[in-house]
Amino acid sequence: MTNDKRFYLSTPIYYVNDVPHIGHAYTTLACDVLARYKRARGYDVYFLTGTDEHGQKVEKAAQAKGETPLELADRVVKRFQSLWEKLNISNTDFIRTTQERHKLAVHELFRRIEADGDIYLGEYEDWYCTPCETFWTEKQLLDGNCPDCGRPTDKLKEESYFFRMSKYQDRILEHIESNPDFIQPKSRRNEILSFVREGLRDLSISRTSFSWGIPVPGNEKHVIYVWFDALTNYISALGFPNDENGNCANYWPCDVHVIGKDILRFHTVYWPTFLMAAGLPLPKTIFAHGWWTVEGQKMSKSLANVVEPNMLIDKYGVDAIRYFLLREVPFGLDGDFSHSALVHRINSDLANDLGNLISRSTAMLNKYFDGILTPPGETEAIDQALQDKFMGQLEVIDTQMGALAFSKALQSIWELVSAANKYIDDSAPWALAKDEAQKERLGSVMYNLLEAVRLIGLLVTPFMPETGANICTILGTDPNNQQLDEHDQWGLLVPGTVVAKTKPLFPRIEN
Ligand code: MSP
Repeated sequence: MTNDKRFYLSTPIYYVNDVPHIGHAYTTLACDVLARYKRARGYDVYFLTGTDEHGQKVEKAAQAKGETPLELADRVVKRFQSLWEKLNISNTDFIRTTQERHKLAVHELFRRIEADGDIYLGEYEDWYCTPCETFWTEKQLLDGNCPDCGRPTDKLKEESYFFRMSKYQDRILEHIESNPDFIQPKSRRNEILSFVREGLRDLSISRTSFSWGIPVPGNEKHVIYVWFDALTNYISALGFPNDENGNCANYWPCDVHVIGKDILRFHTVYWPTFLMAAGLPLPKTIFAHGWWTVEGQKMSKSLANVVEPNMLIDKYGVDAIRYFLLREVPFGLDGDFSHSALVHRINSDLANDLGNLISRSTAMLNKYFDGILTPPGETEAIDQALQDKFMGQLEVIDTQMGALAFSKALQSIWELVSAANKYIDDSAPWALAKDEAQKERLGSVMYNLLEAVRLIGLLVTPFMPETGANICTILGTDPNNQQLDEHDQWGLLVPGTVVAKTKPLFPRIEN
C-alpha cells in the first residue's frame, strides 16, 4: 500500500575539507527531529544527507595533506557518518558526490539545460573566492576581498560554460513573490527578493584551471562548477534521471531543503533556475537557519574554539545535546554556544523539570501501589483540566513543528511538564495516601500522572529518542511503536501495568 502522506527533507551536503563541528551537527539534527516527528505522524519520510566532495577547496585541502582528493574524502566521510550514528540521525540515504549515481544525474541535468539552449561557451573574467567557491565582479569586492567571508580572491580569466540565469530573472522573482513560504524565514525571503531585483547575471558553471570535479559532457577540459554539481544531489539521490525505484516520482519536489543562512542564494536562486531550465518542479520550501558563535566569538580553526560534537556527546549525553541545540535558539536566528548555558539547560529543564516529574511519579506509584497501575476512577475537574491542556497542546505543537519552530515546540512540551508537576502539587498524593478512604482517588491521580508522562515521552521522542525509549521502558509500552497518530489520545495506559522505579534520567551536573 502506498502512503499518500510523503515528506522529503534534506540537509546541505557537507564539504569534506573540514571535519564536522556543531554547526554541521545543528542542520542535520534539526532535519532529524523533523523527520522523526513526521514519521510519528504517519508520513512516509525520505531524509537525505551526504557529502560534497568535489571542487577546488577539497582539491587544495588534499594537496596540503599529501593525499588524493578521493583519499581525503573517504577518510572524512567516515567522520561524518560516525558522528551521525552517534547523534542518532535517522537519515534514509547518504549521498556522496563522487558516487556514480550522482555523476550520471549531474551529466543529465547539464545535458538537458544545454539541449534547451540555456548553456553556452564563453569567456570568464572575474574574481573567485575559493573558500566560498563563489565568483564576484570587481564591483562586488570589498577592499579587493570576498564580500561574504572577507578573504582574498583570485582573478580568473578562463574559457567557461555559462548558464543563462539572466533569462530566468522574471520567472524566479514571480515565483518567490507568489509563494510566500518558498523562502523562510521572512527576513531571508526579503534578502533574496532584493538580490534578484538587482538583476541576475549569467552564471559560470565550469572551470578549466583544476580537475577535481565532474567533467563537462563532451568537453573534458572543463569540470562542472561545484555548486551545479552539489545542488544536483537532491535529485541524484532519488535516482534522477532513470528513477528505477520510483523515488523521484514519489518524493520530488522536496518538501524542505534545510540550510544555513550562508548558502541561501545557491538554494533559492541558482538551484530553482537550474530546475526551471531543465523543466523540473521546484522544491516547496527552503528554510535557512542562523549561525552559532561560541562563547560570543565566530567559530574558527585559528581561534581554536571549534566545538567538537563527539566530545560534547561523551560528556553530556546525546539527548542533552540534541535538546540544547534546538531549545536554546529559535530556529532561523543566530545563537551563541556556551558551556554554562548548556549546563544550565540540562540542570533546569532536564534534571529538574522533566527528570523530577518522572522520578516523582514512578516513585509514588511504587510506594503507594507497588508500582501497579490501577484503573482511573471518576474524573474530577482538576483531571479534566490536565487532560484538556494536553489534548489542546498537541495541535499547537503540530503547527509549531510544521513551521520548523523547534524551540517553541519544546517550550510547548515543557508547559505540559509544568502542568503535570503542578498536578502533583495540587492533588497532593501524599495527603491522599494518609486516608484509606481516598485509595481510589489516589489511584486515579497516579493514573493521570503516568498518562501525562506517557504523552510527554511520545512528544519528546523526536528530539530525544533515547529518553523517549527509556520512558517507554519505564511504563512498559513499546519503544518501537511510538506513532503519535496512533497513541496521542488520553487514557491509553493499561491498568495493571507494572511501572518500574527509575534512577534519575538526567543527573544534575555540578559545575
Ligand atoms: N557543501 C556546501 C553545501 C552544498 S549543499 C548542495 C557547504 N558545506 S559546509 O560544510 O560548508 O556547510 C554546511 C552547512 O553547515 C551549511 O548549511 C552551513 O550553514 C552550516 N554551518 C557551518 N558552520 C555553521 C555555524 N557556525 N553555525 C550554524 N551552521 C553552520 O556549504
